[in-house]
Amino acid sequence: MDVLIIGGGGREHALAYTLKKSPKVDKLFCLPGNGGISEIAECVSIGVMEFDKIVDFLKNTPSVGLTVVGPDDPLAAGLVDVLTQNGFRAFGPSADAALIEASKAFSKDLMKKYGIPTAQYEVFTDYRQAMDYVRKQKFPLVVKADGLALGKGVIICNNIKEAENAVYDIMVTERFGKAGAKIVIEEFIVGQEVSILAFCDGKTIVPMVSSQDHKRVFDGDKGLNTGGMGAFSPSKIYDKAMADRVYKDIIIHTMKAMNAENRKFKGVIYFGLIVTEDGDIRVLEYNARFGDPETQVVLPLLETDLFDIMNAIIDEKLHEIDIKWSDKSAVCVMLTSGGYPLEYQRGYKINIGKLDDDIVLFHSGTRKSDNDYRTAGGRVIGVTAVSESLEESRKKVYRNISKISFEGMHFRKDIGIKND
Ligand code: GLY
Repeated sequence: MDVLIIGGGGREHALAYTLKKSPKVDKLFCLPGNGGISEIAECVSIGVMEFDKIVDFLKNTPSVGLTVVGPDDPLAAGLVDVLTQNGFRAFGPSADAALIEASKAFSKDLMKKYGIPTAQYEVFTDYRQAMDYVRKQKFPLVVKADGLALGKGVIICNNIKEAENAVYDIMVTERFGKAGAKIVIEEFIVGQEVSILAFCDGKTIVPMVSSQDHKRVFDGDKGLNTGGMGAFSPSKIYDKAMADRVYKDIIIHTMKAMNAENRKFKGVIYFGLIVTEDGDIRVLEYNARFGDPETQVVLPLLETDLFDIMNAIIDEKLHEIDIKWSDKSAVCVMLTSGGYPLEYQRGYKINIGKLDDDIVLFHSGTRKSDNDYRTAGGRVIGVTAVSESLEESRKKVYRNISKISFEGMHFRKDIGIKND
């Protein structure tokens, strides 16, 4: 059977790489894909929000038996609903269920209503009330646009001035458009972050191996937030006792809460957790999809056929699958364009020397030009290694990065060191 993947980043490359391993998958299509993905899938130049064109493509390509939707925007806008209504099998949550990511206010209210531990917060639609509120708070403080904002809608404010600016930017200058018509203001929690992705069919929810990403652009967690500068798996602090506690207090509880709200979730739920110094664990955020770059370290550790898991979720038979994970460690270091996450140039030639056989490159922002790859985004390529230990994977990744270059290339040197 052929499979279509919607999206064109590192997550989709990792999905394509993993689905390609399935003996049940013949050909992969990816829409729109990228330079690296084009090596293993036929890339189709249709945008992820062009739903009519996607439906037409599927009508004209009957060999495709499964469509996997990667990014948040088409999920929130109901692509899975549209595909299902048109008789196609699609992996990912409905728009109703994807609201767990698409509205921060919804997810915070869900957690409050069902007793899922999270940070204290208030929701505002009125600018003046929001301003009055921030002036009475302690700092740091977190100001979040309610809707999807390309991963940039969460602002950590260290003082009143920064908080006032954040509220003004989001609500008055509409920096994130309609996504900022409503905002969430919440307490800042100090701790170690852990990402848990979980397969969910609405009846069964199965966490994947833990991971952690590095969001700041410079070493030592300095500089601006990015879409992710690298990740490693498993997390160093997420032990069995913690996993059991999180499963009971957070994971299973979230699935049941979504069912109780008539928003059955079928797909992957991402739990962004924070573990405080005294061992308290709270949910910082939910995503309704595979996380990026976490997917680039989690999927290489999956030993069960991802195609089978996705089909079992669509059919609500996840309980029939025994999902197995390697006990190795994976590290992914992101190579980015100079200047990212602010302004950066595109179109530079990427030079790739002879890499170790077990290094995997997941392309985030590249295009193929004749026989070369060119940079085409802020995050360019994730370099991933899997080996017996985190330290060995780190060494392997960095040794191989020295054989890759493009003008302005930037990467963090401390991926995987967190929590040492
Ligand atoms: N790594 C966080 C995200 O995928 O949004």
